[in-house]
Parts: sequence; structure tokens; C-alpha cells
Amino acid sequence: MRYSSPSSKSIAIALALVAPSLALPGMSSKSPHLSRRATPAVGDYVAPGPNDVRSPCPGLNSLSNHGYLPRDGRNIHATDIITAMNDYLGLSATFDFLQTFGAGVRGAFVLLPGLSIGLESYDALTNSHNKIEHDASFTRSDVFFDLVASGVDPKSIDNNNIPPMHNPPVNTTLIDLLVSFSKDGKTLTVDDIADARHARLQSTVAFNPTAVLQSEQTGGLWREAGFVSLVLGDANGTVRIDWLRDWFVNERLPIELGWKKPNAGIFDILSYANTYEAAEKVRNGNNVPGGTPELPIQFGSVL
Ligand code: HEM
Repeated sequence: MRYSSPSSKSIAIALALVAPSLALPGMSSKSPHLSRRATPAVGDYVAPGPNDVRSPCPGLNSLSNHGYLPRDGRNIHATDIITAMNDYLGLSATFDFLQTFGAGVRGAFVLLPGLSIGLESYDALTNSHNKIEHDASFTRSDVFFDLVASGVDPKSIDNNNIPPMHNPPVNTTLIDLLVSFSKDGKTLTVDDIADARHARLQSTVAFNPTAVLQSEQTGGLWREAGFVSLVLGDANGTVRIDWLRDWFVNERLPIELGWKKPNAGIFDILSYANTYEAAEKVRNGNNVPGGTPELPIQFGSVL
């Protein structure tokens, strides 16, 4: 039997499949799919793999999923966070500095090799219960319920000593709940989001015996609702639901759905945060949410 020897072309294709950089000169693969699989370019969306770390923050996670911050979620320099927030989310550099500085002051940041300040990993944010991470989120369950679901005795849960948790999972039921506040089924206005924020707070107040909602926690709640309206919203802060789902569920910037980054000044962000704080005051009769006097929501500075 005669065997025909493989042509140099088929050898090159085989080599390109297993090791694209070994392909013969002039025969490199034109397929973006293949090259993306090998090393995703900065900007390509790739969902985190099993060894990657993610935080409870859809903003930072999406930056990592696009490679604007380290994809593995580790050794993230504070200056890189500030630059990525400005370059890819369109947020004022002054605000980015203040937000990052605020997280540093609350103890999330450490000294990284090379004498740079930063996050050793996103775990630092996940493990910051009631300092940066808080209850009543739009995308994540309250830590108390995650612990109970994992078999921990509710009576043993000490709010000041919450055990470390990696990669807090996105709770799509909560996102459905947020979306259910849309009046037209396509968008969420500022008013809709304020209603959703209020309902979410009320459920935490009613059912989570460990909830703490002092100004340190609620400041985050108003600001984060503001991020949604500002980063995804139109001039009135109205947000497309398909964009919101892409960002919250996949932690992907909805670029392929037509989203473009805003050009947001520091006062735009603060003004949305103040709007959400004021909206909550109106909805809960100033400071007694849902008629539960044991747990008044404390209002205060948004920063
Ligand atoms: C230094 C920068 C940042 C830090 C340290 C940070 C940290 C966090 C943390 C720890 C949470 C979880 C709070 C919770 O328990 O719900 C959070 C939530 C959130 N962050 Fe960030 N974040 C940063 C920047 C951003 C940016 C740039 C955006 C948006 C463009 C953003 C959007 C959000 C939103 C929308 C939430 C609320 C998620 C929810 O309610 O489930 N963050 N952030």
C-alpha cells in the first residue's frame, strides 16, 4: 500500500490548531475564533474560568471579563482600576480616584509587589461584609441567606465575623425581580429603579435578622443604583433591560447591543446617588422602612 506524505499546507493547519504561533510564515489562521481562543485580545469578553476570582461588583467584574483589568481577578493595581473606570466606563477620573480611595480607606487594598497599592484579589471585596459589600444588593443574595443555604445554623451567624466567600454567585431571580419593576417591559426608568431599590431594602429589613443599614452601607446602595442609571441610561437615566441583563447576568459590557460609554462628570454620579437617596426617603416615610421601627435606614453622605 502506498501512503502519500502530508503536504506542508496540512502540517501547517494542524500546527496552527494546536499551537497557532507555530504556523508556517504566510499561513497564519485568519479565523478570529481560533486566535481568540488562544489568547483573548484586550476588549474580548471571556467569562471567568474555574481558577479566576470575581467580586460582588458587576462594574469591576465586567472590566475583568473584557480584559481591561486582570482576567484572573488577582493583583489589581489601584491605578489600573482608576484608568479602566475612566477609559472603558466613561466615569470622571476625579470620581474614580475618590471611589477607589474610599475602598482603600475601608481596608480592601494592600501593598502589592513593586510598591503599588491594589487588591491582592477580588476576595478582599467579597470578604468586606458591611464595609464595602453590603446586604440588599440587586444581583446577589444577602450573605446571611447564602450561609443558611450552605447549611450554616442561622443562630451561629455572627455579623462581625462572616466567613470568607469566593465568587459570590449572581442571583438571577433577584435580577428578574428588578426587571419586573419596568412599566413598559423594555426599560427601567429612575422611578422604576427607585421602586425596585425600595422593595429590595424592605425584603432585607423584613427577613434578614443580621441586616445592618447604616449610612456606610446605604451610601453604597444609592451610589450603585446611580451607576446603573448613569453608565447604562440615556439622558434621563432610563436603562434598556436587554443592556441591563447583559451587564448584570453575564457581567459583560453590552457593546454588541449598541451600548456606548457615557461621558460622566463627578456631579452626574453624585446627583444620581442623591436622587436615589431622596427617592427612598419618600418611599419609606423618611426613615422607617416598611413600618419596621427596629431597623431604620440611616441616611447620610453618599461618598
Ligand atoms: C474602586 C472601584 C469599585 C469598587 C471597590 C467596587 C466595589 C463594589 C462592591 C464590593 C460591591 C458589592 C456591594 C454589594 O454588596 O452589593 C459593588 C456593587 C456594585 N458596583 Fe462596584 N465597585 C467599584 C466600581 C464600580 C464601577 C466603576 C461600577 C459601574 C460602572 C460599579 C457598579 C456597581 C453596581 C451597579 C453594584 C451593585 C450591584 C448589586 O446591587 O448587586 N462599581 N461594588
